[in-house]
Amino acid sequence: MRKLVTLLMIAAIVIVVLVLLIQFLPYGHTHTNPPVVKEPNWNSPETRQIAQKACFDCHSNETIWPWYSNIAPMSWLVQRDVDVARSRMNFSDWGRISVEVGEIIEIVSEGEMPRSNIYSCIRGRVYLSRKKHVLSMG
Ligand code: HEC
Repeated sequence: MRKLVTLLMIAAIVIVVLVLLIQFLPYGHTHTNPPVVKEPNWNSPETRQIAQKACFDCHSNETIWPWYSNIAPMSWLVQRDVDVARSRMNFSDWGRISVEVGEIIEIVSEGEMPRSNIYSCIRGRVYLSRKKHVLSMG
């Protein structure tokens, strides 16, 4: 019994040390929000508001970086999501990357977006029930 407790304690210490060590890896800390270049011609302020809630944290330069985005390994997931998402479609640099509106509609109506990963789940920003509003985006 005592042996088991000792083993568990060693395991716990190893895990804590590992978690502390990975914080020093350079990836995941560049939380930049570059200036907004150009936004789409929103058909109404409401559409923009919904997109802002449901999509901006990944697909814009106005990401609200949550506290856990500073803690590895969550920081890696968030960083990767935002980097990839911005490179595919960026509401703050509209027109630079060509995204078909039809594609946006398809992705949203199939429930692929907003992505329900750890990032969007924790933030409770899965606005699929209101996807019709996003769909009216032009
Ligand atoms: C949690 C982060 C996150 C959120 C929130 C999010 N996306 Fe994405 N999105 C991504 C990532 C990552 C990719 C690229 C990888 C992929 O295709 O799975 C992507 C890709 C896309 C693409 C594909 C672009 C292309 O060139 O293929 C579209 C369109 C898109 N998202 C629309 C939306 C819309 C509309 C919303 C809001 C309703 C939204 N996304 C919310 C992370 C996100």
